[in-house]
Amino acid sequence: MSAYLFDWASLLGRWLHLITGIAWIGASFYFVWLDNSLLPPKRKELIDAGVGGEVWAVHGGGFYNAQKYKTAPADLPESLHWFYWEAYTTWLSGFFLLCLLYFGQAEIYLIDAQVMALSKPAAIGIALAFLAGGWLIYDALCRLFFQRSERTLGLLVAVMLSIAAWALCHLYSGRGAYILFGAVIGTIMVANVFFVIIPGQREMVRAKAEGRSFDPVYGLRGKQRSVHNTYFTLPVLFVMISNHYALTYGAKWNWLVLIAMSVAGAAIRAWFVMRHKAHERGGKTSPVPLVIGLIVLAGVIAALAPRTSTSTQGARNSAAAAQRFGEVQGIINQRCVTCHAPHPTFAGFPAPPKGVMLDTPEHILANTVAMQTQLATRVMPIGNLTQMTDAERETVLAWLRDGAPK
Ligand code: HEC
Repeated sequence: MSAYLFDWASLLGRWLHLITGIAWIGASFYFVWLDNSLLPPKRKELIDAGVGGEVWAVHGGGFYNAQKYKTAPADLPESLHWFYWEAYTTWLSGFFLLCLLYFGQAEIYLIDAQVMALSKPAAIGIALAFLAGGWLIYDALCRLFFQRSERTLGLLVAVMLSIAAWALCHLYSGRGAYILFGAVIGTIMVANVFFVIIPGQREMVRAKAEGRSFDPVYGLRGKQRSVHNTYFTLPVLFVMISNHYALTYGAKWNWLVLIAMSVAGAAIRAWFVMRHKAHERGGKTSPVPLVIGLIVLAGVIAALAPRTSTSTQGARNSAAAAQRFGEVQGIINQRCVTCHAPHPTFAGFPAPPKGVMLDTPEHILANTVAMQTQLATRVMPIGNLTQMTDAERETVLAWLRDGAPK
């Protein structure tokens, strides 16, 4: 595929993934809110019809009255809307992107020889094993602890995902590890819909149509998985945007950053879910989960702050500065410019990545802040494809720390 069409495939894939993801998570947020905002119906006809809770809302210039039945309505309605294509298309488009970007170009985005020198087939095979294994272990835990202890289950799932985060960060490039972590959780979420929630609902509808009663376990299991999915959303969404922020995935303790950001996301989501039910507590919601989430977030921000310069060898005279800049420029020409030039010579890069060009002194000086992050986190040169040495990296970093004298 030409690099041009490849870019289009990636752009359209992302566009679709974003759209379906919004539709899915949007519906999921709405239903979590709806379920937690239900009030017992007051009207007799609703109570007689088996309605367990209702919500009034005003939106887009109209009044809405949603009602939830305790079990099922007396007669099945003619048209019944199902929500699943949003979830399935999100996964399919995400898997397409994973194959296109991270598997297809594994040597650039997935493998980092300094972390582990995996072959391309090994890297892809292990990644697929994580996707399948994550679901199988999670599902087994859910079945084992179903209706026993949600708290223990939650803790075990958190431990399992933390181990996955640690392992992935010790197998792959930071960026690849983060995206795979998101893919593992995303796969669990979609598998919850595909293997548990939807089959359960089908059984409920079938039983109703056949006039037999159904085991309430289907509803309860679906509810359990749907609650889990809601706590997964914020961590997954963080991961999906993290690839723009090398300061997170490129950090030395990137697996810890990933776990901490996931904890923060889940805690913040937990607070929002609690807030939906504030009506049960006279309008009050404990701020504890929110505070925990924000403290963890602040901790990560503080821990990742760049160290301020302790170097005192800043070039004082201009001749020395010019010589030093010449040396830096030489390194950049050799290690960066094959990709970061108006017309990259590195195969597969039709245009300078992210529009960053480092081919002239002006371009270099315009990008010092971004270069500092990319070099300090060792994210660039990507996959160290141009084999930059540690000494060269330190030379450029020291120059940046000294305020990039020219
Ligand atoms: C093999 C090609 C390649 C080489 C060599 C390379 N880069 Fe990059 N660079 C990329 C790609 C691809 C991206 C875009 C990454 C992304 O999509 O987030 C990028 C992005 C960047 C960015 C922008 C990061 C951001 O998110 O804003 C900077 C800055 C950068 N590179 C600096 C460097 C420096 C400095 C070097 C040399 C030490 C270098 N690159 C070498 C491919 C390369």
